Amino acid sequence: MKLTVKVDGSTKEIEFSEKENLLKLLHSNGIYINAYCSGRGICKKCIVKFTKNAPKTLKLEEETFGKKTEEGYRLACLHSLNNDAEIEVSLAKPVFAEFDAEVCSDDEKTHVAIDIGTTTIAVAVIKNRKLFKTAHILNPQVAFGADVISRIAYSNEGNLKVLAESLKKALKETISSLCANKIESIVVSANPTMLTFLLEKDPKPIGEYPYTPPFKGSFEGELFSSKLYIPPVVSAFVGADITAALSILPEDKDYLFIDIGTNCEFILKKDNSYFASSVPAGPALEGANIDYGTIAQDGAIYKVEFKDTFKVYTINDKPAIGITGSGLISSIALLREFEIIDNEGRLLEAWETEAPFSLINRIKKEGFLLDKNIYLTQNSIRNFQLVKASLNAALKIILKKTDLKIPKRIYIAGGFSKSLAKEEILKSSLLSFDGEFVMLGNSSLAGSLRLFCKMNREKVERISQKIEYLEIANESEFEKLYIESMGF
Ligand code: FES
Repeated sequence: MKLTVKVDGSTKEIEFSEKENLLKLLHSNGIYINAYCSGRGICKKCIVKFTKNAPKTLKLEEETFGKKTEEGYRLACLHSLNNDAEIEVSLAKPVFAEFDAEVCSDDEKTHVAIDIGTTTIAVAVIKNRKLFKTAHILNPQVAFGADVISRIAYSNEGNLKVLAESLKKALKETISSLCANKIESIVVSANPTMLTFLLEKDPKPIGEYPYTPPFKGSFEGELFSSKLYIPPVVSAFVGADITAALSILPEDKDYLFIDIGTNCEFILKKDNSYFASSVPAGPALEGANIDYGTIAQDGAIYKVEFKDTFKVYTINDKPAIGITGSGLISSIALLREFEIIDNEGRLLEAWETEAPFSLINRIKKEGFLLDKNIYLTQNSIRNFQLVKASLNAALKIILKKTDLKIPKRIYIAGGFSKSLAKEEILKSSLLSFDGEFVMLGNSSLAGSLRLFCKMNREKVERISQKIEYLEIANESEFEKLYIESMGF
């Protein structure tokens, strides 16, 4: 069977022999269309237009596209092909963004820092010891699974090459969209699973007891004909993305560092002792797996406010297109403040709340109306609850195991964190304790940008050797604490 794909002005033909999911078929053939929810039929972003042999329209597509379904519009993840077809698609493009971070480089050559997150990838180019340009893209591997566990499972089915190639192709294209110069060196920060895909190593040992990472300590090699440096890997779950951040954290103060992503990692520092841990949390705060979720791009809602009137803030003030992780936290904080979400996380109906009328007016059957056709839904609130339950349960276990208290200084990392206020973290109960919060944004990328100099490489390698990894997910108490931490 043959699928003909018209993509950004060119045509590609894909032969396939068995019934195959359209989204997977496109991604495994190097055609990366958006798929924020990993093919779960939630984000409605994997849009294709059939020009021949369109499959029967599904209810969700009728609701999403209305009359445009007659022109062939469908969601790729919802259809499997078992005959010839022709489609038109547009590719997911890198989003160029401002990134504010210090650079440390021992020379004036061109270098590239890359943060490979499970959900998003950020790439930054350095020229003359200065940050030149930054872009981020959705990790194309999301089509093969939302989290590391499902990607390892997909790799175990004989798809390591597909995963590795999709990643490298996306990296290469993003680097060349940023800069045409010869790249002297590349620093890659990523969790150990993403590193196995980058180095095309079997990730199976990470997913099985005794959970072995592809390597320990730092790694030097070659990538795209440039020198490659990967900051130290501590364990199967604490990788280069976390140790890179050590280059920006102080050595003379105690702190708790939390990197909130699809996986959450913690470092608790007390004097000269460093404890690290990690827990899976799901990609909701990266804008994936939530209704109307999006990565940070023009029009993404990153904050809401109510001062007499309800206001949404979007990136670059563009018309709203979806919700980012910070938009999700901000909306939940606001709805908790006005008791429109109850203690169990239920979005109340209009008649159940005494909130101001202009807020009550926004409660619709689809959810809470944030902007034209964009809702905070019950499903998104539930996904947020899963993240906060993981986070808080893990923290309780870490404190118990180390017999320490939460230090005054708390660093919050994660792409979404930059635009968050401390009050939003507390009101949404993302974290349930107060302190001196410092929002770091993407600390993996910011940390990598400082690793083109020897001094900082030595710093992260020295501290990494002191880190003691604490296993928490298998703790018998975890489940009980997880359920307890689910409510608000
Ligand atoms: S990937 Fe198809 S709806 Fe999200």
